[in-house]
Amino acid sequence: MNPSLSIYDNLGGAETVRKLVEAFYPKVQADPLLGPLFPEDITPVMEKQYMFLSQFFGGPSLYSDAFGHPMMRARHLPFPVTPERAEAWLACMSAALEEIGVEKQLCDFVLQRLSGPAFHFVNTTEE
Ligand code: HEM
Repeated sequence: MNPSLSIYDNLGGAETVRKLVEAFYPKVQADPLLGPLFPEDITPVMEKQYMFLSQFFGGPSLYSDAFGHPMMRARHLPFPVTPERAEAWLACMSAALEEIGVEKQLCDFVLQRLSGPAFHFVNTTEE
């Protein structure tokens, strides 16, 4: 990991962010806490996540260019995001990072950066 580069560049750019999203959503869909929240056709969600993570990681601002201000917490309000679901989301992300072969130090850094938003999106303690 090169600390003077963005996460996006450390990962290797668009191709790796795409691979990460493709490894992540099958895990989300298979997760008993997360799967039921998502639509059967996951493709549009994957595309939005690709756009969002690209900019969150310091790459091109694809999501904001298409949809305006992310307001990510607000966009999650229709869904019951519990602390357990935040943990499950991060666990799926951890497994996806490992699956695509991201080195440990970079994995840990990415997860640390995502855990802030994940717990910030918690909006209920009930399922
Ligand atoms: C904390 C646990 C989380 C849960 C349970 C969760 C769940 C969901 C659900 C159910 C959707 C809507 C899918 C649909 O369109 O029907 C969604 C959309 C999305 N989530 Fe999450 N999410 C979590 C955390 C995160 C985090 C940490 C990020 C990124 C930092 C994120 C980024 C997104 C994006 C970009 C979308 C698409 C938003 C849009 O419609 O434009 N989510 N999430």
